[in-house]
Amino acid sequence: MFTKEIEMKIVPMTSSIGAEIIGANLEKLSETEFEKIHDAFTKHLVLFFRDQDELSPETQISFAKRFGDLHYHPAAPKSKKYPELFVIHSHKDSKFADGNGWHTDVSCDSEPPLGSCLQLHVLPSTGGDTLFASMYAAFETLSSTMQKFLSTLTAIHESEHLYRGRYEERGVDDTDTIYPTAEHPLIRTHPVSGRQSIYVNPSFTTKIKDLSRSESKSLLSFIYNHQQRPEFQVRFRWSKNAIAFWDNRCTQHFALWDYWPDERKGNRVTIKGEKPFYKPSQLVESKLKISDRNN
Ligand code: SIN
Repeated sequence: MFTKEIEMKIVPMTSSIGAEIIGANLEKLSETEFEKIHDAFTKHLVLFFRDQDELSPETQISFAKRFGDLHYHPAAPKSKKYPELFVIHSHKDSKFADGNGWHTDVSCDSEPPLGSCLQLHVLPSTGGDTLFASMYAAFETLSSTMQKFLSTLTAIHESEHLYRGRYEERGVDDTDTIYPTAEHPLIRTHPVSGRQSIYVNPSFTTKIKDLSRSESKSLLSFIYNHQQRPEFQVRFRWSKNAIAFWDNRCTQHFALWDYWPDERKGNRVTIKGEKPFYKPSQLVESKLKISDRNN
């Protein structure tokens, strides 16, 4: 598909999240191009690459490995040859579609993934977009009093309720599997950018530690409403073989399942992350202005 060298361009999609990378051939990236992509990943949180050929598992794996060691999904079916490959697949007989709810990947792990790289090979005739949201923007638009309070809290992330029996129809017998749970700071400091983001999500987070059930429920409900404001989001309309590469440390995503009974299929490779931490820093006022008043 790439017959002559064209200079790689980075085109931001919103002021807070998302950029399209134009003219990058992920099958043969130079070191300079890789550096640019790395910087763009830190700055834009999710990168999109269109006009790619279908990547072989080896190529997708070796691209992802440039960012670190790979993560193995705790529940999804794995092939013997490529255990690090997570096949995202939904069709007319599916009972669920992966990612069909706001989440950050596998936040129930004690060292949750740094990022995920998904290429879709089969697309529905319409629909199947993915929404991504900046958790930096969600944090930075809170009042400084709320920012300070949330920074003192720890949240519990679980996965049993999501994963038990989920992949049975794809041959996974999880009778003896113990699914992960973890405790993470509710506000997380990004190890590269140093920025703070909200690190709870409605899929995996089950409770805020040290609060009563009802306090935790109300506070999480406030946070989820706030996180889901459209100002923090970018929506990606897939094209065949497009790739989305997102930073799980500061974003959430939601894969829309609005295309049933059509099929949607692709490969995801996920990069290992480190234990989330919170390091206090000077509070930053958001450049994004949101209003409390409905017009
Ligand atoms: C996911 O990794 O959560 C699925 C994303 C998608 O299918 O768009």
